[in-house]
Amino acid sequence: MNEAPIGVYDSGLGGLTVWREIRRLLPAESLLYLGDGKNCPYGSRPREEIRRLADEAVGRLVQEGCKLVVVACNTATAAAIDFLREKYAGVPIVGMEPAVKPACLATRSRVVGVLATERSLDGDLFRHTAAKYGEGIEVLTVPGRGFVELVEGDRESTPEAEACVRAAVEPMLARGADQIVLGCTHYPFLLPVLQRVVAGLGVTIVDPSPAVARRVGQLLDRDALRASPAHCPSYGFLTFADEAYRRRLEKKALESL
Ligand code: DGL
Repeated sequence: MNEAPIGVYDSGLGGLTVWREIRRLLPAESLLYLGDGKNCPYGSRPREEIRRLADEAVGRLVQEGCKLVVVACNTATAAAIDFLREKYAGVPIVGMEPAVKPACLATRSRVVGVLATERSLDGDLFRHTAAKYGEGIEVLTVPGRGFVELVEGDRESTPEAEACVRAAVEPMLARGADQIVLGCTHYPFLLPVLQRVVAGLGVTIVDPSPAVARRVGQLLDRDALRASPAHCPSYGFLTFADEAYRRRLEKKALESL
């Protein structure tokens, strides 16, 4: 039994969509969330810079005593996961998988759309996954331009959000995509708008966060790290921005339940 917290890290608020799945699946676990906030968005920064930011964040969570760290950011995973696993070898680190595999297995139209940040889409992780599972399937990639800013600005239910989502998704629909993969952890906050845009078209939106939460559970079992079922969990929030942002993280986390 190990009652230390699980660390969850993202560039900002987006990783809370993974945080809530972990909390749902593993209710006895304490969670310590770090939303950078100061350097968000990461999406079009150079890879080296993202690696440095991810190192600082994961280093902080390890220093705080986390027993496992989830990099709940596709962009940081794409830029830094191997580096982080090597540097913090004593702590299991779970990254985000672009959910291209389940989408390619489920598609009937043989056209799959992927929404993610620029830096995730041009990374090796995405390229390898798409090449491995996308044989004979058209995998359309579109950067979710402005999506992260909408979520960070609490504007995800505005007409501006709907226009932004339509601009990214309609070309995929026009090509016949019947699966749309959310390749950035901020994007599930736009789900109500996304669902409106694809309503009645038989399109499935694929969010990898429940699978990431299951992976966390498997690693806790593998390494005998689970908290006892009777453990009363605590939920902490950290940021590299200011106290107002830290409070926003806390509020958004509780609202997302
Ligand atoms: N949530 C991050 C991701 O999953 C957002 C990246 C950003 O800050 O642009 O990629």
